[in-house]
Amino acid sequence: MTKIKEHDVIIMGSGLAGLRCALQLVMESKGEIDLAIVSKVQLMRSHSVSAEGGTAGAIRQDEGDSLELHAWDLIKGSDFLADQDAVWKYVNRMPYEILFLDRLGMPWSRRPDGKIATRPFGGQTFPRTAYAGDKTGFFAMQTLYDALQKYTDKFTRYDEFFTTHIIIGEDKSFRAILGIYLPEGEIYILRAKALVIATGSAIRMYGFTTMAYSGTGDGVAMAYRIGIPIKDMEFMQFHPTGLIPSGILLTEGARGEGGYLINNKGERFMKRYAEKFMELAPRDITSRAIMTEIEEGRGFKGPNNLDYVLLDLRHLGRERIITRLPLVRELCIKLIGIDPINEPVPIRPVAHYMMGGIDVDLEGRTIYEGIWAIGECACVSVHGANRLGSNATAECLAWGYFAGVDVNNFVKEKSLKDLPVSEVENAEKEIIHLLNKDGNENQYKIRSELWELMDKYVGVFRDRDGLEKALSKVRELKSRWKNIKINDKSLIYNTELMNAIELKNMLDLAEVVIEGALLREESRGAHYRRDFPKRDDENWLKHTLAIYDKENDKPKFSYKPVKILYWKPVERKY
Ligand code: FUM
Repeated sequence: MTKIKEHDVIIMGSGLAGLRCALQLVMESKGEIDLAIVSKVQLMRSHSVSAEGGTAGAIRQDEGDSLELHAWDLIKGSDFLADQDAVWKYVNRMPYEILFLDRLGMPWSRRPDGKIATRPFGGQTFPRTAYAGDKTGFFAMQTLYDALQKYTDKFTRYDEFFTTHIIIGEDKSFRAILGIYLPEGEIYILRAKALVIATGSAIRMYGFTTMAYSGTGDGVAMAYRIGIPIKDMEFMQFHPTGLIPSGILLTEGARGEGGYLINNKGERFMKRYAEKFMELAPRDITSRAIMTEIEEGRGFKGPNNLDYVLLDLRHLGRERIITRLPLVRELCIKLIGIDPINEPVPIRPVAHYMMGGIDVDLEGRTIYEGIWAIGECACVSVHGANRLGSNATAECLAWGYFAGVDVNNFVKEKSLKDLPVSEVENAEKEIIHLLNKDGNENQYKIRSELWELMDKYVGVFRDRDGLEKALSKVRELKSRWKNIKINDKSLIYNTELMNAIELKNMLDLAEVVIEGALLREESRGAHYRRDFPKRDDENWLKHTLAIYDKENDKPKFSYKPVKILYWKPVERKY
């Protein structure tokens, strides 16, 4: 029996963006808003808890940093694809967000003078990354969670609620979400006046990734399927230092603290690629440098074709490693039995972050009334073609705040709109149809093949031939997905059904990533085409928009201009 519940606002996703938005909404509305926080996992198991290195913001303006420098670093880092109005709004907000968390009790690391400590991250002209050891995401989540505990009577938690559909009316305004409440095995409809999508990344479409298994892009895929444009999806970020062989993140903070990258000749090879910034060049450049070293025979042979170079922290000394990088040390010891105090550790570039996402305006609004998107699932666009490290947790906080303010103003004047019955019935039928599937394809095999093709053809380096192969393969996988078998016929904690929907979400989005990459015949930021190795501002200084063509079950592409306000594109040198 389908259950129906009503709220004023639904926040879908409980990572940093979702929790920051929730806190703003309850504070802003003085508890007047009836809020639902919906998460497919237990609320504090969102991937944001894994964020390590820090949060960027110009809090040291008294010591030489400035909002202009932060903005310039991002715009140059983005390879000039960031929208400069969004960047400006963002850098202005960030010092307040860092101090706001501080007031809430965030245990930021401190300098001897008691001020919040900052360290350098890639592409920064001033060390502006505030951090809490190397567990910044965990502590920021805990801080927001604790703050929300004061308001537990003001919101309802739907943990382990797997949303399958966003329901809109004929006028394209938001009406409800529909999904399975996994512990009960019931289909629920949650009606509200507004929806904030904060469901995070889709980077789990890669096999070798830093991302939790939950990062399957559900919110982006749902938004895409109801006709909301998604933007710049071809720009996928590869973090330079994924631990071999798991791909688990070793924070850029390790290089911020002074760590070296070393090839098999014992050289600090970054001098060939970024003479000035060395190991603290932006991630796109550093990842390409590592792959070039490996391809030219200056790497080390690794397991499962995971050749690597070394991250050397030994010269930092025991004390610094233990106090500033405890998680890095713990991960290396536990996962590969190497203590970085004594030995360098094997790393290589790893799929980490999605620069693209749901197309939104400066408040986080989508083109449909009553639907916002914030955090990694959204593209506003602050990061353009390449994000600088420590600006993801920051973006979540900034747009959690902005959307919180905006949604509060919006819902005050609105009432619940009707539920479109046929849309709801179709959504329910789709779930039941999938549950009854009895084909001969194994979804987990399809998922492995997706991971393999993304790792092989849509990585740090791309070209036409590889992308064409990837596109035809992903289309084959999409068609095979229609013929999968679901063995578990119950709805209670049916992870097999949930994985099947997650796989569908990843396949749809992978198609957008690959085709967008194939169409973009230039190299910009994280999108590097060997067959078009130069940036081409004349033809490609524009955002990619993909809109779902329902009839043909594939994306249609168009483009829109980048907002260049003050900073003109120049050659990018580090
Ligand atoms: O390296 C890191 O700690 C990752 C940070 C980020 O992606 O911003």
